[in-house]
Amino acid sequence: MAQLKIFEIPHTVLRQKAEPVEAVTPEIQQLLSDMLETMYATNGVGLAGNQVGALKRLVVMDCAGEDEKPDPIKMVNPVIIEKSPDMVLHNEGCLSIPREYADVERYEWVVVQYTDETGTVRERKATGLLAICVQHELEHLDGILFIDHLSPLKRSRLVKHLEKRRRREAEENRE
Ligand code: NI
Repeated sequence: MAQLKIFEIPHTVLRQKAEPVEAVTPEIQQLLSDMLETMYATNGVGLAGNQVGALKRLVVMDCAGEDEKPDPIKMVNPVIIEKSPDMVLHNEGCLSIPREYADVERYEWVVVQYTDETGTVRERKATGLLAICVQHELEHLDGILFIDHLSPLKRSRLVKHLEKRRRREAEENRE
């Protein structure tokens, strides 16, 4: 097991389209385990291949609440096959856009089809936080970030805020 480096904006790997995985090899299984370990270590609820520099259609998530048992999910080539008629607004963040949050409109529930780490095709109806997470993570695989859902003004404000904080933290580290 190994913790992986998480790429942050404006790294171009976050804007590229990830390639389908042809077979669930031991290397893919290892990568999924490392992604899950990295996600837990950074207190994230989801992580996509692009975010660790792997342009493969891989996603890990765990959206279980604090009082629930862990629900680690490893997905290979996930696809949303059904969407709710209703939308919900949810305050989202992203490990690649650290400590910045904004409201994004998403489907209330989705049905996701994916291959698991044993090579078995599965379907899961995702509701609540998991539904948000599935939509957010699958977009990563197409180079889309949650900030793309914001108005240009809100997006530029958020990015400037992040850049300002980075500069301040870099200065503090120099002192
Ligand atoms: Ni994200």
